[in-house]
Amino acid sequence: MRRSVMLSCGSYLPEKFLTNNDLAKLVDTTDEWITQRTGIRKRHMAGEGEKTSDMATRAAEKALKAAGLNGSDIDAIFLATTTPDQTFPATAVTVQDNIGMGDRGFAFDIQAVCSGFIYALSTADNFIKSGQINRALVIGAEHFTRLLDWDDRTTCVLFGDGAGAVVLEASDAGKGDKTDRGILTTHLHSEGAKRDLLYVDGGPSSTRSVGHVRMNGKEVFRNAVTRMSEAIVEAMEASGVSPADVNWLVPHQANRRIIDATAEKLNLSPEKVVVTVQDHGNTSAASIPLALATAVEDGRIRRGDLILMEAMGGGLTWGAALARW
Ligand code: UT7
Repeated sequence: MRRSVMLSCGSYLPEKFLTNNDLAKLVDTTDEWITQRTGIRKRHMAGEGEKTSDMATRAAEKALKAAGLNGSDIDAIFLATTTPDQTFPATAVTVQDNIGMGDRGFAFDIQAVCSGFIYALSTADNFIKSGQINRALVIGAEHFTRLLDWDDRTTCVLFGDGAGAVVLEASDAGKGDKTDRGILTTHLHSEGAKRDLLYVDGGPSSTRSVGHVRMNGKEVFRNAVTRMSEAIVEAMEASGVSPADVNWLVPHQANRRIIDATAEKLNLSPEKVVVTVQDHGNTSAASIPLALATAVEDGRIRRGDLILMEAMGGGLTWGAALARW
């Protein structure tokens, strides 16, 4: 059975970071409040002139290097971002140029906010499974601090910048069951009726401005635990996998309490959960590939491990993916 095998991953974080104490100098907050309510201790922030495409390119180059490939080996780029360099063209085409793909294949952006990486992974997987392409770069990259209202303490302490990338390659080596290497299943959902729970109050066709993030934190929290748990169960049932089979949960990193509650609800022991929210904050579409790269680089995730990824974000959008690394 044709599967999308995850060959490698790579990540990039800007040099500059802000601690909770740095933020306490900007808004009425404390290290104690942020740590207790979110688990976040610091978040990175893109440097002057550093764009989403720059961070995406750095992550993509690292992933390509780890796979022993060049840009010219890639057929398509699927780039999840909420913070494109420009309204158009897609940030993905800048990355296509930066990594030396020339006019080979195609590249486009995917907008599903914090669920963006799962959406991009699912899209790439389906292009590969259909036989349309053989190799893809799936990237999550965000310059999210650009969307923050630095006077709003309920949102500005939560988010950060960064990028992560994964190289996918078609393989027919599997038996067509859950022991196969590669992406076993993906599940996407959205509920537009809840778009006002988390949104940006600007855009070309509404205000002609970029806007700032606005969030009903409590409602988003509630929806996050419920919806991500549902998507996880859906993914496990679709592939005949039980919580005991899962080696690693690599969740979207929005809030430590959401991650813990989701893992507990699904009986996944805390040692199996990759948590990076303390160091990265919420990097939206970049958070899952950043967490994945962290755990691959430090040797926790090994070849053959079963990885469960899940996310929820503005839209509302949510989804899950199950893959054998
Ligand atoms: O990536 C996907 C989307 N994002 C998420 O999944 C985030 C989901 N939501 C959350 O993570 C949490 O709801 C937050 C971390 C945003 C907020 O935590 P909470 O426990 O739901 O706090 P709250 O909104 O109920 O606020 C509690 C209190 C309020 O004060 P009062 O009304 O009780 O006097 C807030 O004004 O905490 C206050 N507060 C703060 N205090 C210090 C809110 N933000 C801050 C802050 N520092 N930064």
